[in-house]
Parts: sequence; structure tokens; C-alpha cells
Amino acid sequence: MRSTSYATLGAFVLVLAVPTSAAADGSVIGGNPVRVSESPWVVALASHDRFGTERSGQFCGGVLVGRSTVVTAAHCLSKEVLGVPWQQVRDLRIVIGRDNLAGRGGQELKAANVWVNPRYDSWTNEGDMAVLRLEKPAGRPAIQIAGRGDAAYRPGTGATVYGWGDTTGEGSYATALRSAGVNVLEDSVCAGAYPGSADGTYKPASMLCAGEPRGGRDACQGDSGGPLVVGGRLVGLVSWGTGCGQAGHPGVYTRASALLPAVSQHGAD
Ligand code: ARG
Repeated sequence: MRSTSYATLGAFVLVLAVPTSAAADGSVIGGNPVRVSESPWVVALASHDRFGTERSGQFCGGVLVGRSTVVTAAHCLSKEVLGVPWQQVRDLRIVIGRDNLAGRGGQELKAANVWVNPRYDSWTNEGDMAVLRLEKPAGRPAIQIAGRGDAAYRPGTGATVYGWGDTTGEGSYATALRSAGVNVLEDSVCAGAYPGSADGTYKPASMLCAGEPRGGRDACQGDSGGPLVVGGRLVGLVSWGTGCGQAGHPGVYTRASALLPAVSQHGAD
């Protein structure tokens, strides 16, 4: 986040991957297109006011974790991303069921309540979570959050990250939802990569490390707040990293189990 590019966020989200060392294999560099119908819990956060109408005004991802409850990253609702405090964004919308941001499929709902973690630390990136209560039920299946101790968090597990963010690391934001396969990595990998710098500090209790040892597949700007999924359960939210898809700099996710108290307190069901 802070690191690379809030500026490009003005443009928006998307997913995955950059290229550095990876071969020019579409699935490696950019992930692959996916249907929202197959991952109905992936949502986009949008504001035409702040980000324009092209791409539906998308600026971050989010995840439906209850009938009327969406989780996202706290930094998505920061002034750095929005340009103004979130309370001043008059048309914050949650876009549900829209594969292609250039179209009008699915629905756009308002948030009846927004909780942004007041303990989010923009220096370390710890506590990067927010809970949005929808004005009415989304009418789509929610995803279950993997509880602490779930085998889904084990290093070596294959996971999938979803988003409409940057597909190149250079500001090419996707219009169609994409996903990429990454692996849950040992905490020690991110602890070594991110001991503490302007990009953030890896905190294993509340963050999850995932990527590819050689780089290639990853989330990127605009994917923030979106889901990292293992076996149909949510294990993380896209949060931060140095660059995108670079060897030695995996993606860092908000550990989904750390969301549970906030979801039961601030969610709707
Ligand atoms: N902070 C970015 C966003 O706001 C997400 C960055 C994720 N980076 C990564 N290399 N996994 O969209």
C-alpha cells in the first residue's frame, strides 16, 4: 500500500501479478479470468465520485462473509486511497455479482454501517480490516472464514486470490475479475522479507504470508480487501507487499481468523 501506489489506486484495482522473472505464461503473470458466479462472495468497493464511472468506480475488493456483511481492508477506506475521509464519500457502493466492471450486471448496495478498525496501524499495516454492513442482504452465498488452527493456514497449502486490480504492476487495471493461485508460505518467509520498513512489518499473529517463492503470481494494487481462499474458506484479505509478484517479496494478507471478533461485533449476522 503505502509503498507503491496510492497514486495508481486512483485508477483501481485488480489482481494479480507481475512478471518479473516469470515466463510469459498468461496464467503466471496475470492469473486467469474467473466468473463471479463461481465465486459469488467476491465484491468490489466503488465510488463513481472518487474514481470515475469507467470500471464502475472500483477501487478495492471485499468479501461477503454473511448475508449482509462484507469485510475489506482498513486501508481501502483511508484518506490516502480515497483522497478524503470515507465519511465524505457520498456514493460508496458495494458491487456484487458483476463480472465485468464495464457492465452493469449484478447489484450495487450501500453500506448501512461502516466500521474501520480504529487500531489499524498504517506503519506496520497491522489490523488492516474493516466491516461493512449492507443496507439489505446480498442474496448471494457468503464464504466461511477459516477459524484459527484450521489446516487451511498451513504453509504449502494452495490458495487462490481474487481481484480486479493491476495485472502488470504498472497500472493496467482489469475490468473482468481474475484469480491467481499462490501458496501459503511459512511466516518466517515474510518475517525475513519484511522485518520492518516503510512498506510494513510482518506480524504473524494477524497477517498471513502467501505467494510464489520465485514471484510471478501475486495480488497487486486494486486487489486490496479481496479474498485469499483455500478449499472454499476465507484465509486472508489482500493487504500489502513490496511491489507485486517479485521474487523474495510475497504478498501479505490480513489473517482471516483475526477478523472473527470484528465480524461478530460489527457484522449483521
Ligand atoms: N495495497 C494494495 C491495494 O491497496 C495491495 C497490494 C498487495 N500487494 C502484493 N504484492 N500482494 O490494493
